[in-house]
Amino acid sequence: MSERTSLVYRSAAGYELLMRVLYGRHYAARMRAVAGEVPNGASVLELCCGPGTLYLRHLRGRTADYVGIDVNQRFVDRLRRRGVDARRLDLAAPATERQPLPSADAVILQASLYHFLPDAEGILDRMLAAAREKVIVSEPVRNLASSHVPIIARLGARAADPGVGGHAQRFTEESLEALMARYRERLLRSFPIPGGREMVYVLAPSPADRSGTAGGP
Ligand SMILES: C[S@@+](CC[C@H](N)C(=O)[O-])C[C@H]1O[C@@H](n2cnc3c(N)ncnc32)[C@H](O)[C@@H]1O
Repeated sequence: MSERTSLVYRSAAGYELLMRVLYGRHYAARMRAVAGEVPNGASVLELCCGPGTLYLRHLRGRTADYVGIDVNQRFVDRLRRRGVDARRLDLAAPATERQPLPSADAVILQASLYHFLPDAEGILDRMLAAAREKVIVSEPVRNLASSHVPIIARLGARAADPGVGGHAQRFTEESLEALMARYRERLLRSFPIPGGREMVYVLAPSPADRSGTAGGP
């Protein structure tokens, strides 16, 4: 764990509490919307899974397999203690140090695409390579870090710092739409979560996406 990991990321409970304070009912609404895109019995790979809220509260008991990946050792350890297959991996590591992602029916990334800017396509391509059926991305387009209320802006900025960099830039509705336009042939649907703070994109991989980088099951 990096020395400069923000306080917010030092405790799963603290992180979840902050999310609830900052996002209120929209935090759960987003999780429900994303979970609603995952078919019963599907295997799931979640990148940047954080404290595993999606799995623990919305998927457990109805999915076949779940693997959560995060760079935060505390989140990973806590999930492993709860019997979840959580793995520590820096998904922004240079290409030469990258391990292939495990394959799954549904590959999910929530509120974390901005960590990979300016190369957001790189992580989307890796997700498409690992996905057998769908890629689900939910991303904030109205960001608390740019709030006009100073305390909210500070908390929002803290909440975005995982301690490995990659949190300086954010998406707007326009920049996310421009990125996703490059995947328009794979787009199954897109919709805002209740409250409009985040957009959900559901993509279907094409056979060409799977050639090369995905790992075994
Ligand atoms: C804003 S949180 C979102 C957590 C969770 N997806 C959610 O919606 O509650 C971002 C997460 O991405 C993780 N993360 C950031 N950069 C990462 C990287 N390079 N590799 C793996 N995980 C990373 C952080 O540790 C954190 O858990």
